[in-house]
Amino acid sequence: MLGHIPVLLDEVISFLHPEQKGTYLDCTIGAGGHSREILERIVPGGSLVGIDQDKEMLNLAEKRLKNYGKNLKLIQSDFAHISEIFKKGERFNGILYDLGLCFFQIRQGERGFSFSVDGPLDMRFNQKQELTAFELINKASPEEIRRILRDYGEEYYADRIVSAIIRERKLSPIRTTLQLEKIVFRAVPGKRKRIHPATKTFQALRIAVNKELESLAKTLPEAIKLLRKKGRVAVISFHSLEDRLVKTTFRKFEKSKLIKVITPSPVVATQMERCINPLSRSAKLRVAEKE
Ligand SMILES: C[S@@+](CC[C@H](N)C(=O)[O-])C[C@H]1O[C@@H](n2cnc3c(N)ncnc32)[C@H](O)[C@@H]1O
Repeated sequence: MLGHIPVLLDEVISFLHPEQKGTYLDCTIGAGGHSREILERIVPGGSLVGIDQDKEMLNLAEKRLKNYGKNLKLIQSDFAHISEIFKKGERFNGILYDLGLCFFQIRQGERGFSFSVDGPLDMRFNQKQELTAFELINKASPEEIRRILRDYGEEYYADRIVSAIIRERKLSPIRTTLQLEKIVFRAVPGKRKRIHPATKTFQALRIAVNKELESLAKTLPEAIKLLRKKGRVAVISFHSLEDRLVKTTFRKFEKSKLIKVITPSPVVATQMERCINPLSRSAKLRVAEKE
């Protein structure tokens, strides 16, 4: 699977419990890891729709899942738009979100997601979108960059990092991931930390460029509407703000008796999975069932 190991796979399958002839929606199909396991359990009578806003990931999923031909439909879209996509009364037995990005996207330098590989400051999931990380870093006001680093990165050294960025961009535009990584590295004191000093800055920029929290806030209520009775929605998040949003949305809809929360506290990866797949360490799974 080109290096991407699906996170919390056994747990997702056991909560969604895919049924023969069931209809499923994978809102973040990525490399198709979770979808493959769902498809295996629902063919020949069932169907799965896979959404991704990244055309390259959809191409990869199509290649990897070609054996499921007529049982699979792929759509390029932001999952914020599911109510417009499914407006003809389609309903699902299970809906999955595996948020964030794939290993495949991280390791492609030209996508600009990672400070471990050099590339342009891009970070867009949808390459047709206009806003890039380059635009934000070079054109946004200092206050806006500070807000992004604080709100989305919970970056303690936001002030220092912003001052360093503003100083550098006055001299010449900051164009590449490694340029930005060096600026952040120099700006942050006490480097002997468990995580690289640029981790939070890169994560915060990616969330801002792709409006990730806005999309999640918009899609969750729509997903709940699209579920059949007793259908389940499962969300894997990797960031505390995402997890909080999932938790509060589920609670709100539980209060109005539309869903029942199946996971009172989030399910996390086992010790074994954490060892095999370091990306799983921050994963949190929450599941709710339509009443
Ligand atoms: C962690 S990967 C999913 C991996 C997948 N579950 C697998 O096992 O291969 C997340 C995927 O969601 C996509 N994505 C992120 N935000 C999205 C959004 N708002 N709408 C649609 N796709 C999105 C990314 O492009 C990426 O391919």
